[in-house]
Amino acid sequence: MKRVKAGIFGAGYVGLVTAAGLASRGLDIAVHDTSKEKIATLTAGGLPIFEPGLEKLLAEQHITYIQTAKELVTSCRYLFLCVGTPQAKNGEADLSFLESAVKTICRYADSDKIVIIKSTVPPGTGRLMEKLSETMNIEHRITFVSNPEFLRQGNAVQDFLFPDRIVIGSDDDETGTEVLQLYKQWDCPKLQMNRESAELTKYAANTFLAMKISYMNMMAGLAEKTGANIEDIERGIGSDSRIGKDFLKAGAGFGGSCFPKDLRALASIGTELNEELPLIRETLYINENQAKAVLRKLSTVFGGLLGRKIAVLGLSFKPMTDDVRSSPAVSAAEQLLLLGADVNVYDPLVRDNPVAGAVKSPSLLDCLEGCDAAIIMTEWDEFREILKPKMLNKLKSPVIVDGRNMFQLKEMKKLSREFPLYYDSVGRQRVNTLLTANKIK
Ligand code: UDX
Repeated sequence: MKRVKAGIFGAGYVGLVTAAGLASRGLDIAVHDTSKEKIATLTAGGLPIFEPGLEKLLAEQHITYIQTAKELVTSCRYLFLCVGTPQAKNGEADLSFLESAVKTICRYADSDKIVIIKSTVPPGTGRLMEKLSETMNIEHRITFVSNPEFLRQGNAVQDFLFPDRIVIGSDDDETGTEVLQLYKQWDCPKLQMNRESAELTKYAANTFLAMKISYMNMMAGLAEKTGANIEDIERGIGSDSRIGKDFLKAGAGFGGSCFPKDLRALASIGTELNEELPLIRETLYINENQAKAVLRKLSTVFGGLLGRKIAVLGLSFKPMTDDVRSSPAVSAAEQLLLLGADVNVYDPLVRDNPVAGAVKSPSLLDCLEGCDAAIIMTEWDEFREILKPKMLNKLKSPVIVDGRNMFQLKEMKKLSREFPLYYDSVGRQRVNTLLTANKIK
C-alpha cells in the first residue's frame, strides 16, 4: 500500500511531535524549517528541543528533513503548518511566519494542495490565508483546514498519540473528511466543524483551563483567611464530574508559551470585535497578581525584603521542561530584586540564567547557602530534598514559602515539631514553630 505523503512546515515542538506521531502511524513524512541549522541538526540525528520521548520516537521513523521549501511543497499533497504565532507588541497574534509559509506554498504549488493549520491562530485566519492564496493567482486550488493541537509540553508525545479528541475545521465536509483520513489510526472522538469554530475551539480550551487555575488561585486567598484548605476544596469540587478534577491546583500562577499568550490574543480579538470578554481579563489579572501574592508571604516574615537573601527554587514555568517563557518563577525572582533582595536561583534543567542580577547556583545545596529563606516556584521533584536537615541547615533560618504546594501540610506539621521551621504555602494554613520560638535570625 502506498504511504500517504505529508509535509510539515516548522521543526519546533509542535512540528516535530506531529512529524514523529504521524510517521509512527504509517504516514510518509517530510519536514522543512527556514532555519538551516535546525534541519542540519535533525539530519544528523540531533534534536533542537527538549521533549520527553520525542528523540526515541523520531529515531524510530524514516523522516526526510528538507532544506528547500520547494521540494517539500512539490512532493506533498498535505502540508501541515506548525510555525510560531508569537505575541505581537499589541497583544495580538503575529501571523507573519504563517503568511510567509502560505506564500511559499503558493509560489511552488504544482498541483492542488490541502494546507492544515496546526498553529494557534485567531478565528478567520484560514479564510484570510485562502484570500491571500487567491490573490497570488495560481492555477491550483489551495484549501485551508484548521486542525488545532492540544499538546502539553513534557507530555506532547502522549498527547499526540492518545488525544482526548481531534478537531478538524473546514469549509466543506469533503475536505474535512479527507484530512480525517490521515488520522484513521487514531481511536478517539473526531470532531468536524467549520474553520472558525475549530480555530476558536483552541482559544476556548486554553482560556477555560487557565480560568480554572485562576479561579482556584482566587479561592486560595479566601481559604487562607477563613481557615480552609484549598486542597480539600479541590477534592470537594473536583469530584463533581461537571467540574472535573484537573487544572484545579492553586499555586504561583500559570505560565508558558501558550496560556498567557493565547489569553492576551483572545482579549485583543474581543477588543477588535467589540466583545468585552471580562472573564479573560480577570483570569489574566488574577494570574499576574499571583506571583506577587506568594512574595507577600515572604515579605510578611521579615517585614520587608530589603537586604534579605532569597533562594528561588525553579525557573521553568512547570517541571520537566527547560522553558522559561512567561514563567512565574522568573517574574518572582525579578520582583524580589526590585524589592531590594539578593537573589540566588536554581533549576535542575534550565541552563542559562534568565534573571539579570540574580546568581545562578549549580546545585540546590549551593543555592540555599546563607539565604534568609527559600521560595519554591516550580514543583521539581528534586526540591523534596530541601526538607533534609543538611539542606535546611544551609539557610540562616528554616523559612520556606512553597508557591506550588509541594509538601503535605501534615508532613510539614510533623517535621516542625522536631525541627522548628516556618512554612507557608498557597491556600493553606501556615506552619510556624520558628517565629513563636522567636528563633528567626
Ligand atoms: C497548555 C495546554 O495544556 C495545552 O493543551 C496547549 O496546547 C498548550 O498550553 P502547557 O503550556 O505545556 O500546555 O502546560 P500545562 O501543563 O497546561 O500548564 C500550564 C501552566 O499552568 C503551568 O505554569 C502550570 O504550572 C500551571 N498549572 C497547571 C497550575 O498552576 N495549576 C494546574 O492545576 C495546572
